[in-house]
Amino acid sequence: MDDTGPTQQFPGIPRPPAVGETALKPGTFDGEVVFVTGGGTGLGKAIASEFARLGASIVIASRKPEHLVAGEESIGSLGAKVLTVACDIRDPESIAAAFDAAEAELGRPRVLINNAAANFPVPAEDMSPNAWRTVVDITLNGTFFCSREFGRRHIEAGTPASIVNIGASYAWTGGPGFAHSAAAKAGVKNLTETLAVEWGPYGIQVNCLVPGLFPHEDMTADIQGNLAATSDKDACQPALRTGHRQELGWAATFLASPYARFISGHTLTVDGANWQRRALVNPAVTPIRVQMGRGPFSPGE
Ligand code: HXC
Ligand code: NAP
Repeated sequence: MDDTGPTQQFPGIPRPPAVGETALKPGTFDGEVVFVTGGGTGLGKAIASEFARLGASIVIASRKPEHLVAGEESIGSLGAKVLTVACDIRDPESIAAAFDAAEAELGRPRVLINNAAANFPVPAEDMSPNAWRTVVDITLNGTFFCSREFGRRHIEAGTPASIVNIGASYAWTGGPGFAHSAAAKAGVKNLTETLAVEWGPYGIQVNCLVPGLFPHEDMTADIQGNLAATSDKDACQPALRTGHRQELGWAATFLASPYARFISGHTLTVDGANWQRRALVNPAVTPIRVQMGRGPFSPGE
């Protein structure tokens, strides 16, 4: 935190307990399998770790071998069973194969964490059709395809289950500079609400978990560059700090636990009230392309 600025006399929201503490009873997920898309990096890895600490076996599904190896090492170091599967969530056949592998190796996952997503900052007028399609395809279509595969298996087997979709608060505020991701995350929130009702009768809960700002070392260069342009990440948050990734993991384990069985169709935001932030005195508007250091719009570029 910046201790020289105007917020120095304010304490902010206290730090959370350390990584390694658990919010639920030890063994809450003993004998259960949790399938985490994008679980080899950043927040997906942190969420997978909290389930592993509580006894779950973990399946990590994503594209890049180096991410799968990182996830395997991290979960393995906690003493949990872990299976990694190469999978592109844009491809329904690749998803079906990943679930087949999970069932053969560890048993049918009872929990699906739809964490994988795509994002980069770009002014809407500069965004190519393929850039739009790529982000929507991964973030929204991928979330639906994974949910569909998981849901059909449980409906056929008659077994209860839980889905936690990872959202973003610009789903309901809009996301200047992130038109593709914001629209896709709005779809994810809406899908959560529809599937919770459609699949409640089968015993399948569907919730959405929205992280605030959780900086981590796996963030893509594009996103890190965007964060670097914010002069002080802590002082810009009402909590006067950003999120610690275990805080998100604890929320995810709660939503998928027996203690949250009557919670479905809900979106839980873990952001220290950042999305509600408004100023008493309005700052001047700085257009997105100016914030990104781009010159005047040129349709030829
Ligand atoms: C403009 C871009 C671009 C950029 C890619 N494109 N990066 N356009 N600015 N920075 C365009 C490409 O030019 C291309 O369009 C299209 O997008 C597809 O690009 P590919 O590289 O071919 O796609 P692919 O290999 O499938 O990779 C997908 C990706 C990549 C999204 C581009 O970044 C990725 O794999 N990301 C996964 C991880 C990720 O995004 N994590 C962020 C999650 S964080 P053309 O027209 O040239 O063909 C998050 C919230 C963070 O969601 C909030 C923090 C505040
Ligand atoms: P990250 O580290 O970039 O993770 C994204 C993950 O998605 C990667 O592991 C990536 O693995 C996987 N992925 C991307 N495209 C995929 C595809 N086509 N198929 C399968 N897997 C794919 O980002 P993060 O910060 O941890 O974000 C995790 C979630 O939190 C996302 O849903 C994000 O939108 C949300 N979120 C994050 C923040 C934040 O502050 N960090 C804020 C709001 C919301 P591969 O490259 O190996 O495929």
